[in-house]
Amino acid sequence: MHHHLFLMLATACLARADDHGGVTWSPKANEVIDLTHHLHPDTPVFPGAQGFNYTRIRRGPWVYGAGWLEDNDICGSDLMGTSLLAPARWAQNRWYINEIPPHRFFGPVVKVDVSMKVENNSNYNLMLSDLKSWESQHGRIPDNAIILVQTGWSKHYGNKTAYFGTDAASFLINGEPTTNHPGISDEAAMWLAENTTVYGVGIDSPGIGPSSSYTASTSLHKRNIYTIVGAVNLHKVPAKGYSLAALPMNVENGTASLVRLLAFRTAKLSPKPEDTVDLTYALNNDTVMWVGREPFQLFSVYKGPLIIGNNNLWFEKNAFCGPEHMGTHLDAPAHFIKDSWRIHQIPPHGLIGPAVRIDIDQKAVNDPDAVLTVEEIKAWERENGRIPENAIVFLYTGWGEYVNNYTAYLGTDNHENFH
Ligand SMILES: *[C@@H]1O[C@H](CO)[C@@H](O)[C@H](O)[C@H]1NC(C)=O
Ligand SMILES: *[C@@H]1O[C@H](CO)[C@@H](O)[C@H](O)[C@H]1NC(C)=O
Ligand SMILES: *[C@@H]1O[C@H](CO)[C@@H](O)[C@H](O)[C@H]1NC(C)=O
Ligand SMILES: *[C@@H]1O[C@H](CO)[C@@H](O)[C@H](O)[C@H]1NC(C)=O
Ligand SMILES: *[C@@H]1O[C@H](CO)[C@@H](O)[C@H](O)[C@H]1NC(C)=O
Ligand SMILES: *[C@@H]1O[C@H](CO)[C@@H](O)[C@H](O)[C@H]1NC(C)=O
Ligand SMILES: *[C@@H]1O[C@H](CO)[C@@H](O)[C@H](O)[C@H]1NC(C)=O
Repeated sequence: MHHHLFLMLATACLARADDHGGVTWSPKANEVIDLTHHLHPDTPVFPGAQGFNYTRIRRGPWVYGAGWLEDNDICGSDLMGTSLLAPARWAQNRWYINEIPPHRFFGPVVKVDVSMKVENNSNYNLMLSDLKSWESQHGRIPDNAIILVQTGWSKHYGNKTAYFGTDAASFLINGEPTTNHPGISDEAAMWLAENTTVYGVGIDSPGIGPSSSYTASTSLHKRNIYTIVGAVNLHKVPAKGYSLAALPMNVENGTASLVRLLAFRTAKLSPKPEDTVDLTYALNNDTVMWVGREPFQLFSVYKGPLIIGNNNLWFEKNAFCGPEHMGTHLDAPAHFIKDSWRIHQIPPHGLIGPAVRIDIDQKAVNDPDAVLTVEEIKAWERENGRIPENAIVFLYTGWGEYVNNYTAYLGTDNHENFH
């Protein structure tokens, strides 16, 4: 399998780490565990769902910049590979992706390992007794935790039939799920929803399930607890002591999104709402795009009541298409420099670091072509000290004010050709 494609990290949340033991959050490579699968055209999706569609727009020499440009369009189901499901997916009038308060994307990890039980029963569902047994070994589930259920199922990821436990062409046949994979029992989900303050519940199988009924997500989503599916590397995360960042693509009215999941031990992060600043725009059909590029589009695939077996559930899902370079996004070095890192090659610890903000908004008022100068960086350092190691530098231009006006934001009213 060639891993020449990319993952998307379209959410940049900042959590203040200095209120949590004075740490500057600049983890080393061995302190961050990536719990996400690489996204590529063979990424497994639920039976009948639209797969990941990656269209290469350009990969070759270019007259601008450093002389090279790589650019792609992507399409697919909202739930693919490693994804975060918003409460609105299985519960009406609950949070969409863009409505989940961002501090809830961080929290202490509670990892519950049921992989031995799954070895003997591939339809095993996490029981309440598994959670009680975790508590008797490790103490109470901490406040605002994120539960990760290790089933060992990610080893089947490369084989769609094995991963979903079916080779059926659709998810439901005669109102019954065709899938067979480990999940979470209704009893355990209800207990987590009622008797803990968890922000989210994740698993390394394709769904929270149970795969015979898909009822467990409803209990969690009704309480605005998000779920995460398709995690990987959970065996590398200890039962407790790590924290998680679960950063989904910020899609307006999204019921699920690609997510980047990073577990780390450097900082014990459990931020309050006021500790967290969301630096992303929510993506919608009106999101401004580069000259000549397709818009982002969210397509409704299903929204309404859904009967599975004897259960009356609510369900909403979407698909999307758009350029990679849409809304708030991260450009991998390969975008402009031949043979450098694509998204999935950026070491995950490099996605976390101290934030530095340098303001050029004053001069940008009168100069739409304003650029940062070395002198301005030195001036920043005279005032604030050296730019810390492994920092991530943000330029504040004030230009966000124009984001809803194509002509002002891009400084042109040419919609067709970049040249
Ligand atoms: C992928 O997207 C392109 C561009 O939208 C479209 O032409 C093509 O049919 C799509 N392919 C699949 C397999 O969906
Ligand atoms: C799995 O089944 C084997 C054989 O029946 C048994 O020896 C083992 O104890 C079982 N393991 C678990 C975790 O239930
Ligand atoms: C994929 O999994 C199915 C079901 O377990 C199995 O029958 C099949 O042989 C596997 N395919 C490959 C290529 O391993
Ligand atoms: C929550 O805890 C209370 C008190 O222990 C218990 O009565 C209740 O049944 C629990 N809820 C669930 C869904 O297990
Ligand atoms: C999101 O939902 C709101 C309210 O229903 C609607 O006005 C808006 O157009 C929707 N946006 C997208 C991108 O679907
Ligand atoms: C977004 O665009 C898609 C495709 O054109 C369309 O089906 C959908 O209704 C649009 N959503 C809104 C809220 O306009
Ligand atoms: C958008 O920006 C252009 C260029 O600055 C300006 O001429 C135009 O009036 C703006 N449109 C709106 C609706 O504000």
